[in-house]
Amino acid sequence: NLLPVIMSGGSGSRLWPQSRSLYPKQFLPLVNERSMLQNTIARLDGLADIGKPLLIANEDHRFLVAEQLRQMGREAEAIILEPVGRNTAPAVALAALKALNHKEPVNVPDNTGTSAIPGGRIKAQGDALLLVLAADHVIQDEAAFHRAIEAAMPAARDGKLVTFGIVPTHPETGYGYIKSCKTPEGALTPLPVEQFVEKPDRATAEQYLASGNYFWNSGMFMFNASRYLEELWQFRPDILTACEQAIAVEHPDMDFVRLNEAAFKACPDDSIDYAVMEKTQDAVVIPLDAGWSDVGSWSSLWDIAEKDAQGNAVQGDAMLHDTRNTYIRSEKKLVATVGVEDLVITESDDAILIASKDRVQDVKKIVERIKAEG
Ligand code: GDD
Ligand code: MG
Repeated sequence: NLLPVIMSGGSGSRLWPQSRSLYPKQFLPLVNERSMLQNTIARLDGLADIGKPLLIANEDHRFLVAEQLRQMGREAEAIILEPVGRNTAPAVALAALKALNHKEPVNVPDNTGTSAIPGGRIKAQGDALLLVLAADHVIQDEAAFHRAIEAAMPAARDGKLVTFGIVPTHPETGYGYIKSCKTPEGALTPLPVEQFVEKPDRATAEQYLASGNYFWNSGMFMFNASRYLEELWQFRPDILTACEQAIAVEHPDMDFVRLNEAAFKACPDDSIDYAVMEKTQDAVVIPLDAGWSDVGSWSSLWDIAEKDAQGNAVQGDAMLHDTRNTYIRSEKKLVATVGVEDLVITESDDAILIASKDRVQDVKKIVERIKAEG
């Protein structure tokens, strides 16, 4: 039995003005009529032996999460509510602890004087196989996605931390890079990871791309809950300790799992990529060729959208004249363009964004200023 864990606590600030802190991108219908979160859940249909999803989101979004599940007629295994975002290493730790139905702190020395996690006390309680997913991906070929998941299961059960690698197409600096040997196309064999580098700088990314030995990290993982906790205990005991304290007191409230706020606020902020994946010796990578993309910014939506003969992608009401390679999204107003190219234009209720398509990463700078200047 495979337990999907969906991390849905990100803020999606690069997709402002549509994505807002009270309504971030994973809850928006960005690519079809379903939200990104709903697509993530629906994409699992058809997998054998798959459990109900375990969701981890910010407390502010609890009704959004519950409502989006209800709309689909689905239930969650549980919805863990974070009072603050501490990034993905703690989020996955909470999910792993919850999956093991962990009640008492385990990383205290047991009566043999050693830490209980490497000592296997967790495993004795029965393990859980986790499929950790982001809520902001598009995957066009679901059958290929399912094949990769099935191929990952034996290695994950065997104690490996499985990543899913995408053949890179450009020196993206917003992704993790996984060094491995190349494999014949289509072969779904787990390859040992030689090196994992999260978000390298531009020059390094170019070098990786040129070498041909690197995959992009898709941001999805599969491992035993106990195995992740063991590695976290080894590399970031501070994070594990804080998460154990945070989840120790559960306040049952429908499907919601609430945390001890003070304990979780004290948890260091770090991503699973830096905290565990860069450091572990036990990772493998399964090649994933499934039309994967991370919808991180407006240009990535342009990348995957259907375009007209001039390379324009339009969602909503727009009139274009002599316009090329432009992404337009309008909610209420007619957007008209004349003689422009390589732009992103998005219109929402109370804000309009006009950005150069190659500068959309900096949209988050606007969001930071709005926050700072009120
Ligand atoms: N619950 C929770 N809490 N979820 C979070 C938090 C948090 O504090 N922070 C982020 N998430 C969720 C996001 O909503 C998203 O679904 C997922 O975790 C990944 O977070 P991102 O912030 O989108 O990560 P990233 O895109 O910068 O980098 C990751 O994904 C890349 C591929 O998309 C890394 O794993 C990279 O190595 C990878 O290449
Ligand atoms: Mg992302």
